[in-house]
Amino acid sequence: MTTLFDPIQIGDIALSNRIVMAPLTRNRAIAGNVAGPLTVEYYRQRATAGLIIAEASQISPMAQGYLDTPGIYSPEQIAGWRQVTNAVHAAGGKIVLQLWHVGRISHTSLLPDGAAPVSSTDKVANASTFTKDGFVPVSTPRALRDDEIPGLIEDYRRAARNAIEAGFDGVEIHGANTYLIEQFLRDSVNDRSGPYGGSIANRARLLLEVLEAVTKEIGAGRTGVRLSPMTTFTAPLDSDPQALYGYVVEKLAPFGLAYLHVIEGETGGTRTPEGKAFDYEALHRTFPGAWMLNNGYSRELAIENLAVGKADLIAFGRPYNLPLNELQADKLYGGGAEGYTDYPTLAA
Ligand code: PHB
Repeated sequence: MTTLFDPIQIGDIALSNRIVMAPLTRNRAIAGNVAGPLTVEYYRQRATAGLIIAEASQISPMAQGYLDTPGIYSPEQIAGWRQVTNAVHAAGGKIVLQLWHVGRISHTSLLPDGAAPVSSTDKVANASTFTKDGFVPVSTPRALRDDEIPGLIEDYRRAARNAIEAGFDGVEIHGANTYLIEQFLRDSVNDRSGPYGGSIANRARLLLEVLEAVTKEIGAGRTGVRLSPMTTFTAPLDSDPQALYGYVVEKLAPFGLAYLHVIEGETGGTRTPEGKAFDYEALHRTFPGAWMLNNGYSRELAIENLAVGKADLIAFGRPYNLPLNELQADKLYGGGAEGYTDYPTLAA
């Protein structure tokens, strides 16, 4: 019977256990959107996880949606992340970087020259984002032209190369939580015509082209993907999530990815949204690689799902095991060490 403490090889990455630290936005980047010394300490403290998925990091200046999130496009950012990966590796851990483009979940004050955010659509999201003035409604986006897509894919490719240069063991393509890739996937947002709109195959094209470019650049064995079929967050569900994500996973299968990471239910909320059944096992059956599940896992449910083969890895982003410190929610998005690196360990 598989347990949380069994090692596993995922693509090119050898993990000492199946406990994964989920990617978590903490808004501690220093000037230039660089991961600084505090972030080095934060990840070093957590390196006993089998795998750390480092927080979502923008692939370009246009990809940013919140204040003080780290990037992976400048030499200074690569150097900052290099300190993080060195510390995690010295502590015996493994770490991949989540590659992020927020699409329309942004604000002009966060973007170069006050530009409008870009998306599959020019419809504004019913959402807010965190800026220097606190939480504000997101700005109205501009729909990307088809001839801008190759440049976008190039940004992902370069970000993946930069992540490897920074010492990461791999990358996770953020295809979840209603950010840019999901703004293309879902017919509740994507109102385009042409090669990237309309049919499921067309809406999935951006994700698949990003994966072609990234896996060609750094290898499929160092590339994972995250999906969230039933998360509403900043956009309604697709009209047929089972068909859409079934198609996506079927197309991901032949890539030979390191893993697929699936959020069950509503991200950060209930695992079983009322009246919204989804057959995750149907997706699992079509995917030959390592299968990572996430969302609200207790220790017991994690043990159970590994034992019955429902998952190969479990990602945790909430307290889940021994009596843990009380979460300081008001310290999540920005600030210093308080509520970030000053939580006492169990032994302490
Ligand atoms: C957030 O900042 O609230 C956030 C970031 C990335 C996610 C989800 C939520 O994937």
